[in-house]
Amino acid sequence: MIQVEDLHHGFKGTDILRGVNLRVESAETLVIIGRSGGGKSQLLRLIASLAKPRRGRIFIDRQDWVPLEERTLTPLRKKIGILFQNAALFDSMTVYENVAFPLAISGRNSKRDIRGRVEEALKLVSLEGHGHKKPGEISGGMRKRAGLARAIIDRPSIVLYDEPTAGLDPVIADSINNLILKLSEQFHVTSIVVTHDMVSAYKVADRIGMLYEGKILESGTPAEIQNSQNPVVQKFIQGRSDVLVDI
Ligand SMILES: Nc1ncnc2c1ncn2[C@@H]1O[C@H](COP(=O)(O)OP(=O)(O)O)[C@@H](O)[C@H]1O
Ligand SMILES: [Mg+2]
Repeated sequence: MIQVEDLHHGFKGTDILRGVNLRVESAETLVIIGRSGGGKSQLLRLIASLAKPRRGRIFIDRQDWVPLEERTLTPLRKKIGILFQNAALFDSMTVYENVAFPLAISGRNSKRDIRGRVEEALKLVSLEGHGHKKPGEISGGMRKRAGLARAIIDRPSIVLYDEPTAGLDPVIADSINNLILKLSEQFHVTSIVVTHDMVSAYKVADRIGMLYEGKILESGTPAEIQNSQNPVVQKFIQGRSDVLVDI
């Protein structure tokens, strides 16, 4: 479903990503772990084709999206939903308007259609009855759920999650993990989850890949990663370092 080959990208001449290769099968969940500033958010943005890489290929459903022009990409992008690191809601709009936004701008749907879809999405993330509130009036966990409702409103086959549990208490974080599992199990969504949260990683992952020095250093099932002989991997998953907090 997703295949990334030899991806290079960075800013001001220095590449942060230096040859990323990864593959996610249909309906599989790949968790990407790695230190802050290592390029995880950048990698998700490239996969969602919100930016062009300096080099490399990104196949979605066997088609390389890297050479495609904006005009061709626009309709394709609806295959991918993205939950941004800070949920990225519009503060001046209600939760309802935020969730409806992707449908409203596409101009393909009637008002009534939109209402039905938004209500369905809000229910899925347990936000029924909160549609009229502004993002500033709800908790961090609710904002993430609203962001997730918006990410899936156009029924994407791929969902990318950037730090979905960061800043949440363990109970609320677990409800987000359950939502990730639900989307994967009920709707067979193909997912990439970027996280520092190893509890979340073990719970939602089919496979885990560690991004280190611009490459996927190691990948495998949660059990394989837990038993990794690589000291860098061990140090990270046991939290024996200073790199766990994303500031
Ligand atoms: N638009 C940008 N311009 C310049 N540098 C950036 C930009 N976006 C990210 N970076 C830098 O790229 C690196 C990787 O960032 P990011 O992908 O956000 O890492 P992560 O999500 O793993 O914490 C960081 O050093 C960051 O400062
Ligand atoms: Mg990030």
